[in-house]
Parts: sequence; structure tokens; C-alpha cells
Amino acid sequence: MRWLEIIVAAMLTVLASWGLARPVHAAAKPGRTLVVYFSYSGTTKQVAEELHRQVGGDLVRIEPAKPYSQSYSAVSARAGKEYFGHLSPAVKTRVKNMDQYQNIFVGYPIWYNTAPMVVKTFLRQYDLRGKNIYPFSTFSSSRLGKSVRLIKKAAPGAEIKPGLPVDDTGAPHDEIQQWLHQVNFKQD
Ligand SMILES: Cc1cc2nc3c(=O)[nH]c(=O)nc-3n(C[C@H](O)[C@H](O)[C@H](O)COP(=O)(O)O)c2cc1C
Repeated sequence: MRWLEIIVAAMLTVLASWGLARPVHAAAKPGRTLVVYFSYSGTTKQVAEELHRQVGGDLVRIEPAKPYSQSYSAVSARAGKEYFGHLSPAVKTRVKNMDQYQNIFVGYPIWYNTAPMVVKTFLRQYDLRGKNIYPFSTFSSSRLGKSVRLIKKAAPGAEIKPGLPVDDTGAPHDEIQQWLHQVNFKQD
């Protein structure tokens, strides 16, 4: 019967490694979770993906209807026009059935000391009253800037939790873990 023991041991090893590879959701806030982010050059995308590994739920990228140019000077010019003109650039991304989510992580790079205007347009599409919003930014010097104020205005009635600013050179695994405890998203 030695072969049977070997098969059982192998199965247990596979199950254990599968369990370890899954995101840890123990003691997370009740209700479904969405991680939604805008990223121009990929830094916020990486942070959003790491956060998603830690909180689970769904991951969605905010795409503008008209993509931003690859040229830094062109994107700066367009972002400046959108910011100074209080514009709401159209977004392509729609989240079906936003009602199912109770916890929404919203990530973005800081542009002009706040969130890009596409993030405002995205949030305004939904009724987010009563939901928990957890903002996170990536930045080169401004941390969260004035972005939390923008999110409060774009999502009236939502509970806006303390945000997480992540340096654009950082490796955010531990920072994210600490923050999730600070904002009581995780208690374990
Ligand atoms: C148009 C533009 C404006 C920016 N303005 C700021 C700013 O005001 N403050 C700041 O700290 N970083 C600013 N940055 C730097 C980005 O916030 C930072 O590099 C960020 O991590 C990029 O994230 P992403 O790769 O997800 O787009 C700006 C970058 C761009 C392209």
C-alpha cells in the first residue's frame, strides 16, 4: 500500500501549495471588492496588481475613450488642458453591476497634483453612496496631492478611507499590507 501513501501525500502537497498561492482573504471586510485603476506608464498598474493579489475580488483598468499619446510632452499638454479646464474626458470603461461591490480601491498616478480627470469621469458614472472607497496613488513627489478631495466630490455619499501614496520607485508589497491593516480592511 506504499503507492497509496505516496499518491495521498502528493495530493496533499498540491492542495497545500494551491492554498498558499491564493490571495489571503481571511478577516477581510465583508462585501465584494473591486480594484479599479488608471495608469499611463505602468507604475499604478503594478501597484494595482499587487493590491489585487492581496485583497482579491475583481481588477479593472480605466481606459479613456481617446488614448493618451505616447509622447510625454503631448500627454502633459493634454493633461494640463483637462485639469485647468475642469474637463471630464470620456472613458471607455464601464463596470457592469457596480452595485455588487461594497469595497472599491481606486488607483491613479498623480497628475498636476491631483488624480487625472478621467478618474473623475469614471467615478461619476455610478451611484457610490454608502460604499467604501480606498484611494491609492503613485507619484514622483506629490504623494496624494489634492486627489482625495477630487474623489470625495466625484463620489458623494461614499465613505472615503485614508489613502495610500506609493512612491513611483517603490516595491509596495509591505506598504500595501500595512495600509490594509491601518484602514481596517484586514484584521488578521
Ligand atoms: C502628465 C503628468 C503629470 C504629472 N504630475 C505629477 C505631479 O503633479 N506630482 C507628482 O508627484 N508626479 C507627477 N507625475 C508623475 C507620475 O505621477 C508618476 O510617475 C506616476 O507613478 C506614474 O504612474 P503611471 O505609470 O501609472 O502612469 C506626472 C506625470 C505625468 C505624465
